[in-house]
Amino acid sequence: MLDISYNGHSVQQTRESGIDSPSMDINANTSLLLQSLQRSHKHITSSEPAIPHQPQPSQFKPTSSPTANMSLTDKVILITGASNGIGAALATHLSSLGALLVINYRSDEASATRLVTICGGPSRAIAVQADVSRIDEIDKLVSAAVGKFGRVDVAVANAGLMLMRGVEDTTEEDFARLFDLNVKGPYFLAQKVVPHMKPGSRIIFVSTGVNRHTGVTPNYLLYAATKGAIDQMTRLMAKGLASKGINVNAVAPGPVATDLFFQGKSEALIKGIKGMNPHGRLGDPGDVAKVVGFLAREESAWIDGQIIGANGGSFV
Ligand SMILES: NC(=O)c1ccc[n+]([C@@H]2O[C@H](COP(=O)([O-])OP(=O)(O)OC[C@H]3O[C@@H](n4cnc5c(N)ncnc54)[C@H](OP(=O)(O)O)[C@@H]3O)[C@@H](O)[C@H]2O)c1
Repeated sequence: MLDISYNGHSVQQTRESGIDSPSMDINANTSLLLQSLQRSHKHITSSEPAIPHQPQPSQFKPTSSPTANMSLTDKVILITGASNGIGAALATHLSSLGALLVINYRSDEASATRLVTICGGPSRAIAVQADVSRIDEIDKLVSAAVGKFGRVDVAVANAGLMLMRGVEDTTEEDFARLFDLNVKGPYFLAQKVVPHMKPGSRIIFVSTGVNRHTGVTPNYLLYAATKGAIDQMTRLMAKGLASKGINVNAVAPGPVATDLFFQGKSEALIKGIKGMNPHGRLGDPGDVAKVVGFLAREESAWIDGQIIGANGGSFV
């Protein structure tokens, strides 16, 4: 017996009925088989098209020039924790795409001031000192942004802290420190910027690949709990703000070569983490900045409520 599968249907020919019977012509057998396949195919396509709706090529029309959606020209972008690490890479990359920047820092004024110069000087960027774990300071930051540029188009809640704590060694102070900066800060930043955003604006949170890594160790508990809150805020805030035309997404970096990552890790551990990555390296802050650049641009408009991994295949 010959069993031929076609489009999910099985056509069976026995030695007696057909295909390789020595008494029948091979072309006749092939023709019989083809007819059978065509009947079966017709049956499928008449009731259930294989591809329900295929726009004709003439329906694919460019909405504007090929590069128009890829620029951030004169978009006002506020980045928390932008003096160092991923935040600093965000500032330089988004500025290279034409953005006007609000560079928030906590303690490193020199780096923030240097970034203002790199990002086009005081007409195109300002540095604002604010501790974004406090609501009154977030107010101060947003007021400075609106005072300078009149609106906020993109807010990136990047400032964050990592303490390695499991359930048995977390103090109330540790808990408050991490939740205040990693959760309360982004939550209330969103609340404060929304009144200054037009349709088409973006809120971008920073989560972590740790949330999807089965090999994560128990001492990531407190940090992962804060970033778990970020993931839920991303999903539900996106639903709540869609009616205002504001998209909310998060980027979830894998290990990135910054102070936050290196702190408290031995050479051997860092080597091991690099080895886990199929490209054999840590992420660079610029790798994450490019993903955020995409999420900030018009071309990502249909991405909403998503947590986008940026980990070079470390967590798959
Ligand atoms: N690095 C990684 O492997 C990794 C992986 C996944 C997710 N992330 C996330 O990525 C984000 C950035 O991390 P990073 O690695 O770039 O950290 P980082 O190198 O330690 O830099 C932290 C930045 O945040 C600022 N900051 C800290 N506390 C602040 C506060 N209370 N108010 C305002 N700014 C504050 C710092 O400002 P000053 O220097 O001026 O004090 C600095 O610019 C965090 O949310 C982190 O959880 C990082």
